[in-house]
Order: sequence, then structure tokens, then C-alpha cells
Amino acid sequence: MKCRVCRGPAVIDVRRHNANFCKQHFLRLCRDQTAKTIKQFSMLSEGERILVAVSGGKDSLAIWDILIELGYEVDGFYLGLGIGDYSDTSAEYAQRFAKERGLTLHTKDLLRDHGFDVPNGSRAAKRAPCSACGLSKRHCFDEAARLGAYDALVTGHNLDDEAAVLMGNVLHWQTEYLGRQLPVLAAQHGFPRKVKPLVRLTERDTAAYCLLRGLDYLVDECPIAAGNKHLSYKAALNDIERDSPGAKHAFYFRFLDQAADRFATAQPEDGAEVVAPVSPCTNCGAPCSNEVCAFCSLTMRATEAVPIEMGATRRRKVSP
Ligand code: FES
Ligand code: ZN
Ligand code: ZN
Repeated sequence: MKCRVCRGPAVIDVRRHNANFCKQHFLRLCRDQTAKTIKQFSMLSEGERILVAVSGGKDSLAIWDILIELGYEVDGFYLGLGIGDYSDTSAEYAQRFAKERGLTLHTKDLLRDHGFDVPNGSRAAKRAPCSACGLSKRHCFDEAARLGAYDALVTGHNLDDEAAVLMGNVLHWQTEYLGRQLPVLAAQHGFPRKVKPLVRLTERDTAAYCLLRGLDYLVDECPIAAGNKHLSYKAALNDIERDSPGAKHAFYFRFLDQAADRFATAQPEDGAEVVAPVSPCTNCGAPCSNEVCAFCSLTMRATEAVPIEMGATRRRKVSP
């Protein structure tokens, strides 16, 4: 197996490119593919203040590393979700990455700062864990970018993530979500620009990138995400990709090229807080179309119901 670029010994095959790469040229491929995506979709500009949402997993650490390698100045933001050891360990990976490189990592913790964690919040609010988690992440990432005056918020969504979301949206013809399933969402209504520069790389690519760059990341998957439909969409797409290398890439990028425009609307993602905000949330000041934003409403419900043994809940006394 020889590297397509230098003909030296290859360490990885990339079937959708029908090519093998040595360490040096695979790392360069990852950086080049990311730079190409940033340029194609006008995601970032030199001198901008950039914030990356960091989970301690392979994708977020890979994109933080790649952006630094490409010359961007990027701070990180970590949100503690309170999912037991999983969250504790993920925080350690994120902190270690930042510390070793002298980078700034802002942190926030749902339990410490908002009085609930994802497991309790989802139970109390009768939301699936991933739904309560996603809503909390979106709100806290947006807020961190807004309050920190960042120009862009970067997330580590990769090709597998986006293709799986696309498959779910197409299976259910969720046209309003299809209209917003873009690798860059412009800043609007007080929300920062949101960009996904890793959409040309797969999970396997980002895992290999971290391994070859010597980046330690949390390998474990979230323990409460089991049953999330996106995991089964990813598995189905992997089956298709096995027989048809490049199918995932074609599915997602041809959607962007040929179909996304047809669904362009101003509708929000599931659980997002606004369509057309008219006033700030009366509780937290986030841009909002209702009196209280969806996250504050979740927080109120989650902190009103305090779990006790046997899964029952009791009401916390509210001072008059
Ligand atoms: Fe969000 Fe698991 S990381 S539910
Ligand atoms: Zn090479
Ligand atoms: Zn609010």
C-alpha cells in the first residue's frame, strides 16, 4: 500500500478518494479538505474572533487543532452536561488539550450554572436526553459566542453526522429542517455565525487524524445516547458506503448543490429558540420569539422537579 502523493509506505486507505496516504500526506489531506470547505462556504476570515465548541471527543479536538494549524486564532468552549464519568472524563481531555497548547478554554457547567444536568433535566422536562442535551448545547454555545463577542461559532460536525441528519430529515420529509441543514448559517437575530468546517471528513478520518497527530480524546460514546435514531442512520449509511465508496459524500454534497436551495426557509432546528425574534428572553436576555426562551423554560421545569429515589419526583419549595 503506497501513498498516492509520495509513493512512500501508506498508513491509511481512503476509499472514497480511491487512494492511500502516508502519515504526512493524510494529515495534509485533512487540513486541505478543511481549508477547502472554509473557503467554499466563506466560513471564516482572517482576524475574526472564533469560538469552537469542544466536547473532548475526536471531532472537536481535531477541528480545534486543524484551525490552529491553518493559522486561525481560536478559543474553546466546553459545556459540562453532568452525564456521570462520561462528562468528567470529557472535560479532562478538553482541558488537557487547551493547557498543553496554551489555548483559552471557557467552561460552563449545566448543574453548577443552571441547577440541572442532562439526565435529570430530560426526565423532569419529559424530553429525550439528546433533545434536552441538544437544546442546552445550542443555547449555551450561542450565549458564549454572543457574550464573548465572537464572530463565528465552530462545531465539529463531520460528514457522517451531516449525512445521518440529512437521511433523517429526508425520511420524514422535514422540509423546514432541510432548509437549514447547511454547513454555514449566517449570523442573524443576535445569534453568531455557525460553521461546520469538517463536513468533508468522516468519523474515521477524524479518529485517524487524532491518532496520527497524537491527540488524546475521549473514545467512549455518550452512554445515554443509545437508541438515538441518528446512530441507526449512521449504521445504515455505513452499510451503503461499504458497497459504494463515496455514497455518503455524494448524498450530502449533491443535496447542498442541487436541492438545499429549494428548502430555504427561516424555520428553526428542532428545539431552537427562535423563528423571528421580537424581544430578548425576559429571563436570560437571549434572542427569543416568546417571553421566555426554550432553554429557560427547560431550566425552570428541570429545577422545579427534584428527583428522589425510585424515580419519583418531588416539588421543590418555591419561595414566595
Ligand atoms: Fe448529549 Fe449524550 S452527549 S445526550
Ligand atoms: Zn506520502
Ligand atoms: Zn432565556
